[in-house]
Amino acid sequence: MKFNVLTLFPDMVMDSLNHSIIGKAMEKGIIQVNSINFRDFSDSKHNSVDDYPYGGGAGMVIQAQPVLDAYEDLVKKEGTSRLIYLTPQGKTFNQAMAEEFAREDQLTFLCGHYEGIDERIIDSIVTDEVSIGDFVLTGGEMAVVLIIDAVARLIPGVLKNNTSSEHESFHDYLLEYPQYSRPEIYKGMSVPKVLLSGHHKNIEIWRREQSLLRTYKKRPDLLPFANLTESDKQFLKK
Ligand code: ADE
Repeated sequence: MKFNVLTLFPDMVMDSLNHSIIGKAMEKGIIQVNSINFRDFSDSKHNSVDDYPYGGGAGMVIQAQPVLDAYEDLVKKEGTSRLIYLTPQGKTFNQAMAEEFAREDQLTFLCGHYEGIDERIIDSIVTDEVSIGDFVLTGGEMAVVLIIDAVARLIPGVLKNNTSSEHESFHDYLLEYPQYSRPEIYKGMSVPKVLLSGHHKNIEIWRREQSLLRTYKKRPDLLPFANLTESDKQFLKK
């Protein structure tokens, strides 16, 4: 899968992704990240990309020309794809959106900076406006890194054990059950007995109940979306 990023700070994106699992996936060519500085497409004398807002007001606005030309160049080289603009005004990113994005062959992201971008960019090329939460960042770069990480790990071959992305928090709108590793007792704290029993059915039941309990305690807002069986509902009533 290919991720293109139109940004004024391409290194901010590349340096953040170039580690661990995502770094390895890039090395292996399972995913490609193509970070493009749209300043290189500015047709102004000093390669400027922003100007004062019409109507006055504080801050600067990213102009349409460098972004639209950078995008046109990208389309010529790579073909069309969804163009996702990172903005606090967008739809909030979540696991369902990550899964939807992971079904695409290619995605392009546009990072804003300063006060905003010329609305004509949004009107002409942006297909999706996405936010990573109700707070304001200095730019979209960190948001893109976060989204690429969440999408890339769903691509087959990126994670060593493909089932681990299925058994985790949010897959089913339930939080993950607690995990333990050696030793059996650490500083007086022991591992729940059932996990040492070797009784797979009981372990499975215990894990399901722990997932339900955790979701009930920590994220009750998720429960209405979870696919609960009759016995899940019985358990939660207790
Ligand atoms: N740019 C600035 N703030 C943002 C946010 N919360 N999400 C996505 N992009 C942003």
